[in-house]
Parts: sequence; C-alpha cells; structure tokens
Amino acid sequence: MKMKRFSACDFFVIPLLLFIICFSSPFISASRLLQSDIHEVHRRSLLANGLGATPQMGWNSWNHFNCMVNETIVRQTADALVSTGLAKLGYRYVNIDDCWAELNRTSEGKLIGNKVTFPSGIKALADYVHSKGLKLGIYSDAGFYTCSKRMPGSLHHEEIDAKTFAEWGIDYLKYDNCYNDGSKPTVRYPVMTRALMKAGRPIFFSLCEWGDMHPATWGAHVGNSWRTTGDITDDWKSMVSRADMNEVFADYARPGGWNDPDMLEIGNGGMTHNEYVVHFSLWSVSKAPLLIGCDVSNIAKDTMEILANKEVIQVNQDPLGVQAKKVRYEGDLEIWAGPLSGYRTVIVLVNRGPTRLPITALWEDIELPVDTVVKARDLWKHKTLSKSFKNQLTAETDSHACKMFILTPIS
Ligand code: GLA
Repeated sequence: MKMKRFSACDFFVIPLLLFIICFSSPFISASRLLQSDIHEVHRRSLLANGLGATPQMGWNSWNHFNCMVNETIVRQTADALVSTGLAKLGYRYVNIDDCWAELNRTSEGKLIGNKVTFPSGIKALADYVHSKGLKLGIYSDAGFYTCSKRMPGSLHHEEIDAKTFAEWGIDYLKYDNCYNDGSKPTVRYPVMTRALMKAGRPIFFSLCEWGDMHPATWGAHVGNSWRTTGDITDDWKSMVSRADMNEVFADYARPGGWNDPDMLEIGNGGMTHNEYVVHFSLWSVSKAPLLIGCDVSNIAKDTMEILANKEVIQVNQDPLGVQAKKVRYEGDLEIWAGPLSGYRTVIVLVNRGPTRLPITALWEDIELPVDTVVKARDLWKHKTLSKSFKNQLTAETDSHACKMFILTPIS
C-alpha cells in the first residue's frame, strides 16, 4: 500500500484555512462557547479537593475558650472526643480558632505557633491529633491580622501559609475576614483557594466572611462551606436568628459546599435544654456544620444526650445533602421540612412562643403527595409512633422547644 506523502501545500495551506475557518463569523460563537466551557471547568476545579460530601463535624475552640486556647486544651479535647464516643459518631475535626500564632512571622516569612501557648509547635499537635484518628484544623484571615489582632493574617502570604499548613499536616482551614485591604472577599478568598490547591494536601476550606457578600452565591467554587451570618452568641434570640438568616440560602447547599450559620453553643450554659435541642435540630436539618463549641473534656450528661443523638446526626449527614426550609409559619409556630434519601422527609416543628401549643404539618406544605400514608419516627424520643399518618401530623410542642420526625411512606 502506498503512503500519502505530505506536500508543502499541506503544511502551510491547511493550517491557514483552519485559522480562517476558526475565526470567521459563523464559527466565532462556537469557539467562544468552547472558551467559556473551559473557563467554567477551570472555575469548578478551583476547589476540587473532594471534601465536604456531607457537612463537616468536629469541635472548634472559639465559642468556649476564645483566645485562651492552648495545646493542652487541644490535646485534651482530642482525647475527650475519642473517650466520649463523639469521634466515632463523626466529630473528627479538631479546629483551633484565633490566637494560636506568634504576632511576628519567622525570618523566612512563615507563621509559627505561639511559643507560650503552643510550645511544641503545630506539627507535633497535628501528629498527636492524627494518632487519635482525628484531623486538625487551623485558622487564618484574608487580611493583615486576624480578628483578635494577636496574630498575622494570610493576605499576600497565601502561598507560603498554605504550604506551611500542608507541611504541618493541617486538614482544615477556617478563613476569616478582619483587617483586610478593603477589596472584596470574592477577590481575596480565591487566592487562598488556589494556594491550598497547590499545597499538595486536601484541606477543607471554610470561608468566614460573615455572609457580607452573600457567599452562598459564589462559595461553592471557592470553599467547602461559607458563613451566612455574623457571630452566634449563646442565647435563644441569637441562635434562632442565625437559623433564619441561613435558611434563605437553602437552595445553594449541596454536597461539597454548605451554608454555615456558625458553630454550636450547646453545652456553654446560655440556653435551656429544650432550646439547645432546637439548636441541634435546626442545625441538623439545615445541613449546617456540626462543630461543637463547648469544653468536651468536661462535658455534662445532658449536653452529651443532645450532641450524641445518632438519629439527628444521620439527618445532617444524609447523602442526599438537601437543606430543609421553613416551609410555613404562623406567628411563633414553625414547620421546617426537607427531603432525605429513601423517599423520606424530615420535619421539625418549632414553637418560638411562650406557651405549649399543637403544631400541624400539612402534607401540601412539606411536599408529600396528599393521601401518602407515613410512619413517623420521633428522633428525640427514639420511638416510632404506633399510629400512621395521612395528609397531616400534629404534635403538642412546648414553649422554646421542638419536635423532630422522619416520615417514611408505608405503601
Ligand atoms: C470572627 C469569627 C469568629 C471567630 C473570631 C476569632 O469574629 O467570625 O467565628 O473566629 O473572629 O477572633
């Protein structure tokens, strides 16, 4: 068989023709489309770290210890997460918040653990936490200082800091927004995203810009979760208002990227037991990060009862990853609902008022086909109710309390 030989004409005329074809008008839109596709792929891969398939679970030092955190507390917390059984339930991230570093970088420009409070260094702490089967999280800021102003931020030091974190074995970065240069978070945060992607270690990226620029609308390309609110405080009003602000963005939550109404206050003493049950129930159905904010080494029995409720945790960690919404409210009485895997529906009936009252969830409000017959599992009583339900379910609910059910179709 004879091979076709290429002539000079093939080498010059064919590429020229191709060039003209590509840039002639009928093809311009197609080539633009291709470019935007490439851009889209690039944007999506900005944070291809494979983390956050379900909301993150663990502990963070800030709500209880503020700037009083030190390496002993972190080690003891890691020990306590394991000994209490909380680690087995999924609480695996041990996250150090603000105030862990020296105010000045090293001569090489690196962050370094505070010599008084973290004398063994962060690498040793990471090794210890890993030896317990847990993961270590750390905190920095897209500004010149962190919010405490006691340590530097990572602005203009993103690459060296991301590399340092990866070298230490850090698994999680919470990235705050204080003392920045006035530019938008949408400009500053992706710089750290890229730096983390280059650092060679999958690091969960938690954006903390307090909801200022509606991060739900852009966060999925940049981080694994994004704060939708300012800081929570340990009281009922603050807690329910965080849940409300976060609910607005429900449609943006998905596996890989979650709305974050801030960390848990359960066990810190500012709310009643029932109020903390509402806190955990709403965070669970909102697919919020479950980051314990109390002193796990000295955890009370009733706090454990809430944080270790396996059935409520499973709702939060359901693989479908759909955030529940407040589907109806009348005055102080609210119905939150969302779909779960296996054609199940989770509902939370919340009474924000001063007196015990019945609350009714109508199938039409929770998007169950009318006439569907369901069995109802009470997740706080750990009991499946003996009767089945059709078209609606009513439950008496105490003041500042809730009922939480999973509804499973019978037929
Ligand atoms: C900000 C954050 C908090 C906490 C503090 C630390 O206020 O929103 O969650 O990290 O900074 O200084």
